[in-house]
Amino acid sequence: MKILGIETSCDETSAAVISADTKTKQVSVLSNIVASSLILHARTGGIIPEIAAREQMKYIVPVIDKALTEAQTTHDGIDAIAITVGPGLIGSLLVGVETAKTLSLVWKKPLIPVNHLYGHIYANWITEETNSQEFPFPVLALIVSGGHTDLVLLKSHASLQWIAGTRDDAAGEAFDKIGRLLGLSYPAGPLIETLARNGDPKRYHFPRPLLHENSLDFSFSGLKTAVLREVQKINSKTNAMNEQTIADLARATQDALIEVLVKKTLKAAKQYEAESIILSGGVSANQTLTNTFTQELQTQNLPYFFHVPHKKYCTDNAAMIATAAFFNNNQVSWDKITADPELYFD
Ligand code: KG4
Ligand code: ZN
Repeated sequence: MKILGIETSCDETSAAVISADTKTKQVSVLSNIVASSLILHARTGGIIPEIAAREQMKYIVPVIDKALTEAQTTHDGIDAIAITVGPGLIGSLLVGVETAKTLSLVWKKPLIPVNHLYGHIYANWITEETNSQEFPFPVLALIVSGGHTDLVLLKSHASLQWIAGTRDDAAGEAFDKIGRLLGLSYPAGPLIETLARNGDPKRYHFPRPLLHENSLDFSFSGLKTAVLREVQKINSKTNAMNEQTIADLARATQDALIEVLVKKTLKAAKQYEAESIILSGGVSANQTLTNTFTQELQTQNLPYFFHVPHKKYCTDNAAMIATAAFFNNNQVSWDKITADPELYFD
């Protein structure tokens, strides 16, 4: 079957067409168009919801048109429409949701509402040539994005259990806020990763919040405060904030975030007797995070099946939304669908 996915929860306007085999469960991406207003937000250091929504309006129709054209199909060839209904920015979500409802009514196609967070998880089920998508259940998913940090257990496709999450900032938010303190543009995650490669791992050491507590929850706001204090100390000395210092601070930040993410995930996997560990969300595009997971699994001789989506499916995109809809094909009439900015796990 062919599913048209639409994703407009934040600053990306995305439409994709996937072709999914109902027997083999293989998912191929025929097109995945992503238009982003990121460059506008880079100037302001964060997303301005009003601007994001206006840009969504500008891009939504051309992006859907391009997704169909690139997939060499028309609406006649589409079996269903998958749409992100939340969580996200209300103005941005509404653009996608109302467009999808209109298309569903006019094209007479079933509509499948998708939780954006499920979408991130299901990016792992997009078939890549080199990877099998047969993860043994139970699957433990770590979602690390700009808005969320959650550990979720999938006992099967139909059974999803939220285990733990952040008590304050999300991992991506911590990267972005600390990046701002270091004078980096938004989103700072990829920049911190690049700078950290030249950073001295021994010069600074930041706290690993909640690491040694029993709880599987995360907390990253204290890390931001620790970096702020260090930056203030450095700035009080003349000309002390140079390129090397920024790289060293980026390294210490990334080391702290990664250590917490990896250790908590492995602890949860053990506690919940998971067979597989999968990563998802924008921060999972961080190669150092993936490498650290791989190293720890090897060093500790842990037999988990480990998977990370291709980088282009880690950050927001519509292919992951269409894939989530394929595995949880919960069709709802267009007049029963509303955008829900606060949507979370059931
Ligand atoms: O999943 P996503 O595209 O959007 C949300 O749903 O939030 O995630 C965006 C977040 C941003 O905070 C960005 O800084 C972070 O993902 N990010 C990274 C990397 N690439 C994106 N963080 C660390 N390292 C990266 N390479
Ligand atoms: Zn996202």
